[in-house]
Amino acid sequence: MNIQIFENEKQVHEACAILFAAQLIENPESVLGFATGSTPVGAYDELARMHDEGIISFFHASSFNLDEYVGLEQDHEQSYHRFMMKNLFDHVDMPEENIHVPYGAALDPEVEVLLYENAIAEAGGIDLQLLGIGVNGHIGFNEPSSSFSAETHVVDLTPSTIEANARFFDSADEVPRQALTMGIGTIMNALKIVLVATGENKAQAIREMIDGPINPACPASILQLHDNVTVLLDLAAASLLQ
Ligand code: PGA
Repeated sequence: MNIQIFENEKQVHEACAILFAAQLIENPESVLGFATGSTPVGAYDELARMHDEGIISFFHASSFNLDEYVGLEQDHEQSYHRFMMKNLFDHVDMPEENIHVPYGAALDPEVEVLLYENAIAEAGGIDLQLLGIGVNGHIGFNEPSSSFSAETHVVDLTPSTIEANARFFDSADEVPRQALTMGIGTIMNALKIVLVATGENKAQAIREMIDGPINPACPASILQLHDNVTVLLDLAAASLLQ
């Protein structure tokens, strides 16, 4: 793992955006893997700025998001599809047909996950995947004890994730109980991965991911076996590293 520690969050966001910009400049037809959550938002702002300034274009690129809540329509206020439109795609030139987020309101989620995995394969696989990390070490919605080889699948969210995400809903009761997520196998197939984490509340998960054994109790620990992972941290998130 290539671990880079920055003094503050802003520098983490800028470094992350630079990696995606470099990927687009090197290969305008890149297949990009995107993530939701609060951590990537600053990087998306930077990418939108670089796009505005004519430094990068997404016109020939395509994207696959990690996950989506089961049961939410694309335009639901808390859907990850809407999040991505609002935070990135409404501000850049990626054609709508190139944007992929698992369809949470699919009649049959079990079919949707197969279609999603096939679409990734048909696009030639993901060139650069962005990841956040949960306080419990999850990546995407791959919660502790997930299979390290799983493809895109339907998952039950753990109480800690429901609690962590309740801040976006009126109450924890409104947080969907299931999600569609790329599996850890899908994520590990990406050619390059960049994981971003900021803040003290991620320090323990980051420590387990980097210094701990590879263990399903910390799903992100499997990234130790990927040969092209860049981890971008602020001082707080890196504070428990040995
Ligand atoms: P966060 O979520 O960026 O909102 O902390 C990260 C995650 O749960 O993967």
